[in-house]
Amino acid sequence: MEGSPRLRRRVTMEEDKLAEIAIIGGTGLEDLLEGAERVTVGTPYGFPPQISIGDVGGRRVAFLPRHGRRHTTPPHMVNYRANIYALHKIGVDRIIATNAVGAINTGFKPGDLVVPHDLVDFTKGRVSTFYDGSPVTHIDFSEPYCPEIRRLLIEKAEEAGVRVWNRAVYVCTEGPRYETPAEIRIFKMLGCDVVGMTGVPEAVLARELEVCYATLCFVSNMAAGISGRVTSKEVIDASKRVTPKIKKVLMETVKNLPRKRSCPCAQALKEARV
Ligand code: HPA
Repeated sequence: MEGSPRLRRRVTMEEDKLAEIAIIGGTGLEDLLEGAERVTVGTPYGFPPQISIGDVGGRRVAFLPRHGRRHTTPPHMVNYRANIYALHKIGVDRIIATNAVGAINTGFKPGDLVVPHDLVDFTKGRVSTFYDGSPVTHIDFSEPYCPEIRRLLIEKAEEAGVRVWNRAVYVCTEGPRYETPAEIRIFKMLGCDVVGMTGVPEAVLARELEVCYATLCFVSNMAAGISGRVTSKEVIDASKRVTPKIKKVLMETVKNLPRKRSCPCAQALKEARV
């Protein structure tokens, strides 16, 4: 919202708990907390887009637009490490992401919401760890998404009367091109249900910092080769239709998250170091 009074400032030092929960907005969700305070957060990995910080039902919530506020950064150029590190730095210990996805599973239809329980990484050129040196660190990724956030996302989507899939395997491709029909056939054989370009390494990096992470995906199109061409127009149009539902589910989830975490995500580094 241009012209609204809004504080802007630069976060230069560690500031405890500017926010406890973050939402990473994908395509169509470039501004969620309209009129909120915006902060610039520096990290050893560079600068993420400005982060908005506001209040949702008494909870301090940060909003980070993954592709920038004007959607100018393509999926393979997103600075995932800066984004996740910046959220961690301002005190966030739970992240809820949103992602547009193509449906590989033909039971899924455009407009459906999906809360994946597992993922497959087919990215090629992304830095996907904070741990490049010693101590050598291998995080467990047997349950890549936070079970506590997933449960609430599903519950709130069902309460909102939206068609939601409560289990799905998300495959992440490098992009920025869409897939070929043969690639989609391979992903189907591998058991993948939906395909997107931004879920990895986001989920990995959050776990490496012991930050809870889950994603609310929406089906914007059938994947390549299933029903004709895939176009960005189709993806954007679908995101516009589904955004009000997504916002509602996100807000209700945020308000109902227990203050104390009771999932295993907070212990991800325990016994992970060599
Ligand atoms: N493929 C990859 N990423 C996507 C798609 C797709 O079909 N739709 C939305 N994001």
